[in-house]
Amino acid sequence: MAVAIRTEHLSKTFRVGFWARKVRAVEDVSLEVNGGEIFGLLGPNGAGKTTTIKMLLGFVRPSQGAATVGGEPAGSLAARRRLGYLPENPALYEFLTGIEYLRFAGKLSGLSARDAALQADRLIEQVGLAGRADRAIRRFSKGMVQRLGLAPALIGDPGLVILDEPMSGLDPIGRKDVRDIIFRLRAEGRTVLFSTHILSDVEAICDRVGIMIASRLTDCGTLSSLLDPGVRAVEIVARNLAPDLQTKLVEEGAQAMQRDGAWVLTFAAEAPAQEAIRAIVSSGGALISVAPHRQTLESLFVQRARAAAAPSS
Ligand SMILES: Nc1ncnc2c1ncn2[C@@H]1O[C@H](COP(=O)(O)OP(=O)(O)O)[C@@H](O)[C@H]1O
Ligand SMILES: [Mg+2]
Repeated sequence: MAVAIRTEHLSKTFRVGFWARKVRAVEDVSLEVNGGEIFGLLGPNGAGKTTTIKMLLGFVRPSQGAATVGGEPAGSLAARRRLGYLPENPALYEFLTGIEYLRFAGKLSGLSARDAALQADRLIEQVGLAGRADRAIRRFSKGMVQRLGLAPALIGDPGLVILDEPMSGLDPIGRKDVRDIIFRLRAEGRTVLFSTHILSDVEAICDRVGIMIASRLTDCGTLSSLLDPGVRAVEIVARNLAPDLQTKLVEEGAQAMQRDGAWVLTFAAEAPAQEAIRAIVSSGGALISVAPHRQTLESLFVQRARAAAAPSS
């Protein structure tokens, strides 16, 4: 697949206040987003996600480095025509109905009244609000507002959709609605880049992930390439464990606790766990479950955040 977005050493330093104090919002970010994929930019608040996105749109000028969108320089008319954008906190006009709002947004982006009306009907369908958008936005549920907020990003049928924190502030049903829309956009052949500070949103839907912490991109790739596939620990749950076997396993290093009438044994490696399984079965114990624990995105994220917070030596 062609590259949809490419950034090379993208950096932004803001100067704030009377003394023009430097704030490094984005430092040396080089990444690629492939055409047709869902790419998640994951990072805590203040990491530099919004600033990166604004540079892709041409709203903020890079201090250093460059970006292209569909092969065109970021911010150029040709690049802007290819993309749709949902800002971080979209302001909706609460007194308009949903459909009026979308007609208005269409006219703002240069469509005739007739085309804006046609487009509004199509968008309402696309974000799953058909038949529900004829009331004032202030009467919408939060999930409906977020769906409606997504719609202007689809004006002009863009091949690339950039969404800044599209799931923030939503309840689980609202998040699922937004996920479903993102999946649908990919199924239609579009590329989606979205930012989030919520790990589970990335784990649930992204083809590839970029982790941004303290203005830098610490990792970028598929989840399986970022996470160490090695087994960290093995948890065995068993019943009818002979007391002397339980004592022996603990002496050999297993952690043991009782839960709901069963023993939960945790081993630091695979080999002793395998041996324990054989011993449990051959001594008449009942094996309930065996669960290998691998690195999770959460543990990688925490590790990177700690490394960034540690004073550099
Ligand atoms: N216009 C601006 N002027 C000065 N500092 C800014 C501006 N925009 C963002 N920043 C700073 O840049 C850093 C990154 O912000 P932002 O890109 O909004 O992060 P995120 O979207 O990951 O929360 C923050 O420290 C923020 O305060
Ligand atoms: Mg942001």
